[in-house]
Amino acid sequence: MDKFVIRGGNPLVGTIRVSGAKNSALPCMAAAILTEDEVTLENIPQVRDIETERRLLASMGAEVELREGELRDRTTICCRTLSDPVARYEIVKTMRASSLVLGPLIARAGVARVAMPGGCAIGGRPIDLHIKGLEKMGAVITQEHGYLEARAEHLRGAHLVFDKITVTGTEDLLMAAVLAEGDTLMENCAREPEVADLAALLNAMGAEIEGAGTATIRVHGVASLHGARYRINPDRIEAGTFLIAGAITAGDLIVANCNATHLGAVIAKLQEAGARIDVLGPDSIRVRATAELHAADISTEEYPGFPTDMQAQYMALATQAKGVSLVRENIFENRFMHVQELVRMGANIKVDGSIATVRGPARLTSAAVMCSDLRASASLVLAALVAEGETIVDRVYHMDRGYERFEEKLIGVGAQIQRLGNVFAPREPVAVAG
Ligand code: EPZ
Repeated sequence: MDKFVIRGGNPLVGTIRVSGAKNSALPCMAAAILTEDEVTLENIPQVRDIETERRLLASMGAEVELREGELRDRTTICCRTLSDPVARYEIVKTMRASSLVLGPLIARAGVARVAMPGGCAIGGRPIDLHIKGLEKMGAVITQEHGYLEARAEHLRGAHLVFDKITVTGTEDLLMAAVLAEGDTLMENCAREPEVADLAALLNAMGAEIEGAGTATIRVHGVASLHGARYRINPDRIEAGTFLIAGAITAGDLIVANCNATHLGAVIAKLQEAGARIDVLGPDSIRVRATAELHAADISTEEYPGFPTDMQAQYMALATQAKGVSLVRENIFENRFMHVQELVRMGANIKVDGSIATVRGPARLTSAAVMCSDLRASASLVLAALVAEGETIVDRVYHMDRGYERFEEKLIGVGAQIQRLGNVFAPREPVAVAG
């Protein structure tokens, strides 16, 4: 398992480029199931979850081409033959977003067999709302041996109201609705930009969707969809992570190739904490540190609130801010696994239920720390960038799931990071998270 060796103390200076959004690419790749034509997606990040989705689609009979070299950020998918509409547990257990194939498979093939995703480090993450919506559209779904078996002669448009706001639930049912008979009204939808990205692709494929990106989405079902070429939006969470990297190292960083309109809550919070942020243009933001960072509370909310996917990264910053910052996690029930690792580096953090109390500034010193999930990994790297000495960040395969060439990009603006592959290291006790 690879690890990073990070020597802290360098301010990050220069320009760092953001890749395409993993959480747009995943539903958009699944959308290719809805047509027999080729779908070409651009600005695809080369990260492990994309490779997992590629293997999943290929295992069902799709032809998937991830270009290498200068076209590395492009993929062409053709689902003309879906010989085996099954999402196997061996793949699903490594990426719960595999459940995004459920809606499109039923819509296209009338049948789907998808392994239940199982739990996840950050929470139970059920998909009951996906199932409830599909059943309302006429699917018959049974569960046995850890798999969902879904059948539908033809999905019917319905009036769907989500009990809870769910991003992939909204995306899954949107993909089911585009080929359903009649109209579908979806209320209490997720408003994340990734939903609007998916809807833009589906409309380019011939779907008739209105309201994506708002809480109310209307879909007029069509008989079939055709192929399309579509460029994925930039990754707002990667961009937010880099903004914090610039602030925490007291650097002067330009985050390029981003979409500043997707970062309103993050920019406002970092400014409240004392970072100096200038939006230079729609795709470029400059972050500089001011005299000192000071405490500011966050409460994670669905978009456009402060994103749960930025909570761990913000907590690293809060350890350096003067005063007491309250970090409230409202979306997932177990998303504080980075806390004890930050405490091992010298952070002063106490957790009580869904609230972490962070007292700063704390002097961080190097330690051997371990990643537990994608965004916790980023938090540990951010802390290591300011810790005294050389920090060992282990199990960075979590990071490789959703950050493209992360250490390479940070080294490019002055970070001192080395990736070590400890292939022959003795087996380490596996920490049971949570
Ligand atoms: C998406 O996950 C993202 N993943 C997550 O990003 C992100 O943290 C999350 O949305 C929230 O913004 C992708 O888009 C691939 P939810 P998703 O359904 O859709 C509960 C990352 O770091 N819920 O919006 O799985 C659920 O338990 C990842 O890139 C149900 O109860 O999240 C949670 O408490 C991590 N029943 C809440 O809703 C359901 O059927 C929000 O979950 C579905 C969800």
